[in-house]
Amino acid sequence: MDRYLTLGELISMCEIFGITFKNRIFIASGVFGFGLKYKKVTNNVGAIFTKGITLKPRMGNPPPRIFETPCGLINWVGLENPGVDKFCKEVLPELQNLRCKIFVNVAGFSLGEYEQIVEKIGSCVDGFELNISCPNVEKGSAAFGQDPRIAASVVSRVRKKTSLPLIVKLTPNFCDPLLIARACVDAGADGISLINTLYAMAFDINKRKPLITGGLSGPAIKPFALYCVNRVKDCGVPIIGMGGIVSGKDAYEFLLAGASAVAIGSAVLRDPYAPLQILRELKKLKVRIRDS
Ligand SMILES: Cc1cc2nc3c(=O)[nH]c(=O)nc-3n(C[C@H](O)[C@H](O)[C@H](O)COP(=O)(O)O)c2cc1C
Repeated sequence: MDRYLTLGELISMCEIFGITFKNRIFIASGVFGFGLKYKKVTNNVGAIFTKGITLKPRMGNPPPRIFETPCGLINWVGLENPGVDKFCKEVLPELQNLRCKIFVNVAGFSLGEYEQIVEKIGSCVDGFELNISCPNVEKGSAAFGQDPRIAASVVSRVRKKTSLPLIVKLTPNFCDPLLIARACVDAGADGISLINTLYAMAFDINKRKPLITGGLSGPAIKPFALYCVNRVKDCGVPIIGMGGIVSGKDAYEFLLAGASAVAIGSAVLRDPYAPLQILRELKKLKVRIRDS
């Protein structure tokens, strides 16, 4: 006989990385700035990954920065942020008043930059998310996260600088996420988050040249993101899954694929309150299980 299980308990308080989270819905990096504008949302999710912080301030790229595609968007924001010093002085004190856990997304362009950023931020946040999709400018500009040895070097060097939870955010581009995840875990990562955006471009057919080259996100990438999460699920640390989540059902699919929590990205650009709606839907979702 079939019976129904509500997911209430799946989205109530939970412990991951030794930290107690309000629920398993997090906000992905880059879509909500520092989460200070929509406190009603940030105060009711488990955690926020801040926008990427670099060593030096960055103006970001010129427009167009965002281009809508069928079921998704391409962004070319270019890691616009105030730089770590201004972040520590002006943003961190405000972040500490939020009632959710704070993970700072760290973007480096050399191994040393990752270390310096983490060192400067210190221990007044709940953890770090290392964005290893950035180009390694000292070594030919391929992303750190495309080579298991280089990804491991980033993690082992940062590991020596902090005892806070270290989550590594994997790139899905041109690499096997399982190989990278294993290398990062061996080097001391406490968690893996995935996926970052996929390489993408769109053309202006009148000018016959590219309109935008950037990262694809949104529902178009969800099936691939689910595959990637499922591929790394046995790497030995908790997984934070993301990529195209717009509903409670989507979030549940990521939990089924092996994620301990999920992060909401592009959906927030359309509706800043989407994480709360997804949380409500997840709470109400009934899943049929078969007694055997
Ligand atoms: C406008 C925009 C900015 C982003 N900025 C960052 C960033 O600074 N660091 C990072 O690791 N990921 C960044 N991401 C990637 C998201 O955090 C997320 O991994 C990706 O968009 C997939 O989730 P989604 O399909 O729900 O958006 C950004 C995504 C978007 C759309």
